[in-house]
Amino acid sequence: MEKNQKGQWGSQFGFLMATIGSAVGLGNLWGFPYKMGKSGGFAFLLIYLILFITVGVAMTLTELTLGRKTGKGVIEAYQDLGKKYTFVGWLGWLSPFFILAFYTVLGGYCIKYIVANFGDVIGASWGVNGADSGEFFAGFYTDQAQSMIFTLIFAFLCLFVVIRGVEAGIERVSTIVMPALFVMLVIVIIRAVTLPGAGAGLEFMFKPNFEVFAGKGWISVLATAGGQLFFSLSLAMGIMITYGSYMKKEEDLQQNAIIVPFADTVVAVMAGLAIMPAVFAAGLEPAGGPGLIFVTLQTVFQAMGGFGPIFGTVFYLLVFIAAWTSCISVYEAVGSAAIDWSISRGGKGNRTKVFLLIGIASMIEATVVALDGLGSNGFPQIFGQSTWLDTFDLVSEGLMMPFGALCTAIIFGWIENDWVDDEIEKSGHHFWMRGFWHICIRFIAPLMMLLVLLGQISNFFGLGWF
Ligand code: PHE
Repeated sequence: MEKNQKGQWGSQFGFLMATIGSAVGLGNLWGFPYKMGKSGGFAFLLIYLILFITVGVAMTLTELTLGRKTGKGVIEAYQDLGKKYTFVGWLGWLSPFFILAFYTVLGGYCIKYIVANFGDVIGASWGVNGADSGEFFAGFYTDQAQSMIFTLIFAFLCLFVVIRGVEAGIERVSTIVMPALFVMLVIVIIRAVTLPGAGAGLEFMFKPNFEVFAGKGWISVLATAGGQLFFSLSLAMGIMITYGSYMKKEEDLQQNAIIVPFADTVVAVMAGLAIMPAVFAAGLEPAGGPGLIFVTLQTVFQAMGGFGPIFGTVFYLLVFIAAWTSCISVYEAVGSAAIDWSISRGGKGNRTKVFLLIGIASMIEATVVALDGLGSNGFPQIFGQSTWLDTFDLVSEGLMMPFGALCTAIIFGWIENDWVDDEIEKSGHHFWMRGFWHICIRFIAPLMMLLVLLGQISNFFGLGWF
C-alpha cells in the first residue's frame, strides 16, 4: 500500500528527474534563447540569474514545503493552510487545467515532426521530402484531422504514465528520458556550434546589450525575465506543491529548491547553444515561439544535407521529451487534487478513473485549440486574441499564474510567515536561508509578481505600458 494512498518518490534522484522534467519544457527551448537574445543578451542573463536566486528559489522552496507539509494536491493544500486561502488553490488548479488545452496540441506537433523527420531518414513518402518548412508546417496545423490525431496520441502517452502512479509511472519514465534528453542536447550543441558561421548565434545570445534598459525598457526586461522564470519553473501551477507532497519527510527541501531551478536554467542556456548557432549558421533570422522550432529549425535541418534528417529526428525527440515530462506534471497536478477530492468524500480516489475523466475533459478543450489550427480555420476568437492557443495561454499563464503567485507570496511573506520554517527544520536540516528567504518572499517576490502581471496584461492586450 502506497503512503498517503497517492504515492511517494522512491529516491531523491527520481524526484529530481521528475521535477526538472516538469521545469524543462517548451519554455526552455523556444522561449528562453529568443528572449535572452532579444532582451539584452548577457545583460538579460544576469537579471534572470538575480531573479532566479531571489524569486525562483524562494518560491520553489515555498511550494515544495506547502506540498510536503500537507501531503495534499493544490486545492486541499491551500485549504489546510487556511479555509480563506482555498481560492488560491483553485487558481492553481484551473491554470494547469487550461494549460492542458494547448500543451497537448503542441506535444502532438512534436510527435508529428519526429515522424516526418524520421520519414526523411528512411526516404518514406510521409517525410518532409524537401518541402518548404513554412508550407509544411501550415499544411499540418491547418489539417484538423491530423492535428487532432497527434494531440490524442500525445495525451494518451501522458495519461499512460500518470495512471501507473508516482513511482512506477512518473519517476520511472523521468529517470530514463531526462538523462537521454541531456545527452541528445549535448549532441545537438556539438553539431550546432561547429557549423560554419555559428559565432553569430553565440553573439546574438550572449553579447551584452544595455541599451534595452534605457527609459522604461528595464521594466519590460524585468517583466519578461520574471514571466519566463515563472513559466519555466512550473510555479503557481500546483505542480511543485503536488510533487512536494510525494517527498519523504527526511528530504532536504532547501537543497532541492536550489537544484531544480539551477538545472532548469542550465538547460535553458544549453538550449540556446543548440538552437541559435544553427539558426545563424543557416543564414536565418531567429524567432520565438512555435515558428522557431517548427519552421526555422526544420529549415536548418533540411539545409544540413544528408545528416539533416537524423539530427532533425534526434532534436524533435528531445523537444518531445521536454514537452512530455512537463505535460505529465500538469496532468498530475490536476489529477492529484481530484484524487484528494474523491478521498475526502469517502471515495477511493481511483487513479485510473480520475485520469480517464481528466483526460476526456482535457481533450474537449484541446479540440478547440487543435481544430482552430493556430487561428487559420476561421473560428470566432475572444479577448482580442488571434488564436485559441493564445487565449488559453493568456488565461492560464498570463493572468492566473502571476496572480496566484502574488497571492502565495503575500500569504507566506506577510500572513502565515512562520509556517514554512518548522517544516523545513523537521527533517533535521538547519534552515540556513531563513533570513534571506523571508526578505525574498516578503518584498522581492510580490513586487516581481505584480510587475509580471502588469507586463503580461500589457503584452497580451498590446497596451504598451512599458
Ligand atoms: N515549465 C515548462 C516549460 O518551460 C512548462 C510548464 C508550465 C509546465 C507550467 C507545466 C506547467 O515549458
